[in-house]
Amino acid sequence: MDSIYVKDLVKKFGGFTAVDSVSFSVHEGEIFGLLGPNGAGKTTIINILTTILKPTSGFVKVAGIDIKNRPEVRRNIGIVFQDPALDNKLTGRENLDFHARMYGLDKKSRSSRIKEVLELVELTEKADVVVEKYSGGMKRRLEIARGLLQKPKVLFLDEPTLGLDVQTRRKIWHYIEDLRKEENITILLTTHYIEEADYLCDRVAIINEGKIIAVEKPSKIREMVGGEIISVKIDGKAKPFKDELIKNGLAKEINERNGLLDITVEKGETKLPLIIKKADKLGLNIDYVSFRKPSLEDAFLKLTGRKISDEFNNIGKKGS
Ligand SMILES: Nc1ncnc2c1ncn2[C@@H]1O[C@H](COP(=O)(O)OP(=O)(O)OP(=O)(O)O)[C@@H](O)[C@H]1O
Ligand SMILES: [Mg+2]
Repeated sequence: MDSIYVKDLVKKFGGFTAVDSVSFSVHEGEIFGLLGPNGAGKTTIINILTTILKPTSGFVKVAGIDIKNRPEVRRNIGIVFQDPALDNKLTGRENLDFHARMYGLDKKSRSSRIKEVLELVELTEKADVVVEKYSGGMKRRLEIARGLLQKPKVLFLDEPTLGLDVQTRRKIWHYIEDLRKEENITILLTTHYIEEADYLCDRVAIINEGKIIAVEKPSKIREMVGGEIISVKIDGKAKPFKDELIKNGLAKEINERNGLLDITVEKGETKLPLIIKKADKLGLNIDYVSFRKPSLEDAFLKLTGRKISDEFNNIGKKGS
């Protein structure tokens, strides 16, 4: 069953179209990612799905409920905003308690649910410390815990790990994975981080300038880009070598970049020795070889002609 259904969603700000006829659906229990660069429209989509913002046009259901029915949708969702929204002067527990009261949880269910969500994000021991003494990762975990208080059917995570260091990000990925196991929940997250989408998501919508370019499994998107990439540095003329590889069907595509040949191949493991043999035969020395599976970044570049990481690097600076 679909937990989120979005059909022809449009959002205009004045004359500017931030979300341009977007359609997708998310199955129950799925972790679904919106992956795209700065300004792609990810937060705008989340804001509409969480009833914070009204769409210009289109039809959206969340947890089986039309978003026009705001209170009912809100009762069934949890949100972790892109920008931190905690009270730094309160303790972790007090922050949670404040929200649980807003959701109308009675005293008994408040204390038991707060205990549960604190355990889930491993903040039990820090629960009575004021939030201003928390690290960035702890704050993010507390926000995730807060999003879970009312046992939402659908959890929205807008850039759950933006600006966090690699280790902390990995930890948060594990919590999100555990969540799905323990809470029977559907998760929609946005991210700039290709590895994050790759690691966490069952399916990913690649989004650029308000439009969805592709919705696929991360592995499928890699497949679309095709095969693996073998980079070699050869000592000698590249032209005859390239011609040979293409002629023999060893390579699908070859691009030269900084003195390296990026050779796109299928079944790279078996092609690599053949390629080396071919170089040998032509009397060429190979000085360097590397082998990689295409990343979602390669996919993005292929699909949009734009490199996602340039933008992401800027964001990284903004977020830290
Ligand atoms: N309230 C608003 N008024 C006018 N333009 C807006 C408004 N909110 C967002 N936009 C514009 O809509 C576009 C999409 O913004 P949005 O925040 O959804 O992108 P995003 O994909 O979440 O980006 P980021 O990765 O930086 O968080 C941007 O060009 C932004 O400037
Ligand atoms: Mg955003």
